Amino acid sequence: MGEIENYRNWLEKQGLSKNPFTLEINPSLLVGYEKQITNLLKNIEQKQKLILISGATGSGKTSLITYLISKNNKFIFLSKPPRQTSQLINISDKFIKELPLFSRIFIKKPKKIEDVPQFLNNIIKEPKVLYIDEIHEASIEVLEWFRIISDQVQNLSIIFSGLPIFDEILTKNLETLKKRIIEKIELNALTKEETEQLIRKRIEFVGGKGINPFTPETIDYIYNRTGGFPRDIIILCNKLLNTTAENNTEYIDINLIKEKPDKIEKVNDFGKLTNLSVKQKKIIELILEHEPIAPNKLIEFTTEYPSEKHALRAVNNLLKRLIFEGYVERKKTGKTYIYNLTPSTRTLLIKS
Ligand SMILES: Nc1ncnc2c1ncn2[C@@H]1O[C@H](COP(=O)(O)OP(=O)(O)OP(=O)(O)O)[C@@H](O)[C@H]1O
Ligand SMILES: [Mg+2]
Repeated sequence: MGEIENYRNWLEKQGLSKNPFTLEINPSLLVGYEKQITNLLKNIEQKQKLILISGATGSGKTSLITYLISKNNKFIFLSKPPRQTSQLINISDKFIKELPLFSRIFIKKPKKIEDVPQFLNNIIKEPKVLYIDEIHEASIEVLEWFRIISDQVQNLSIIFSGLPIFDEILTKNLETLKKRIIEKIELNALTKEETEQLIRKRIEFVGGKGINPFTPETIDYIYNRTGGFPRDIIILCNKLLNTTAENNTEYIDINLIKEKPDKIEKVNDFGKLTNLSVKQKKIIELILEHEPIAPNKLIEFTTEYPSEKHALRAVNNLLKRLIFEGYVERKKTGKTYIYNLTPSTRTLLIKS
């Protein structure tokens, strides 16, 4: 009881009516992704038939559509693709709902999916956009039907939105559908400025002031830890806010949360690697210690990433760069690659 009371008091002192960092999706809290939004709206304006929005979990796909729906009444939203082809008929209900009352009364709904395209052609008068979220969950048969609908229905743009794995699904099974996707819009992550905006907007939305109780230093930390992935930002902010409330301080004390600088000191001894970033140096140090080593082993020694997936992606990117610059080489063993320092890097390190 006391704890909850303390928490409430702390919120009140901060001027916050509630915790700003919940995973609730609110269109007025959207930040960033301007390029992607413009690109999407341009394609819709041009009445392109098929567009794909691709992004990792928590990158903001559902938030983006929620924002667009709030601005524009062209959108018909499916939060998931239908499980079976037979359920595709229900899509017509979503379109019927949009019609004026008097025309709804006399409508004859299609009985088979084969009739759906013709039916939609009859009732769609103004250009519409069908937005299907979680598209990576769709079966191949359902996707085939979306292709047919896209081909046969005029005045309709279809937007698929899903995880990057959808690309592989298409490549493996549905080259014909893949070829029809005119534009792939990727949601990667927010910039540091947008990360700050996200935090500021949420705090001010519940009555707080600016970024309080965060500090610019905390924002740097949050950005570095999350790589700008919106859901990860919110989860980390929530953790930090709660810690601050528990400690009952006005600002977040960054020293309480910062990781202790560990191996980085040692890496800095590698004097000759001056043109490499700290992260690249750390990878080189780890390879030197453990070579030959595979990326999934390498990430076990990293702590700065919010999840294994982030770590693997980041480490793979760092490795790619290091190979390109001649510091590292790789060999294929079975299905995976193992990494070594190139002889010249080793010589360089020994001398230094
Ligand atoms: N551009 C953004 N601006 C502000 N907040 C965002 C933005 N994008 C996402 N968020 C917030 O991050 C969280 C995750 O976003 P969202 O659910 O839209 O991601 P998603 O890509 O649909 O994830 P999933 O693939 O798991 O469905 C939400 O709480 C949302 O409010
Ligand atoms: Mg989503």
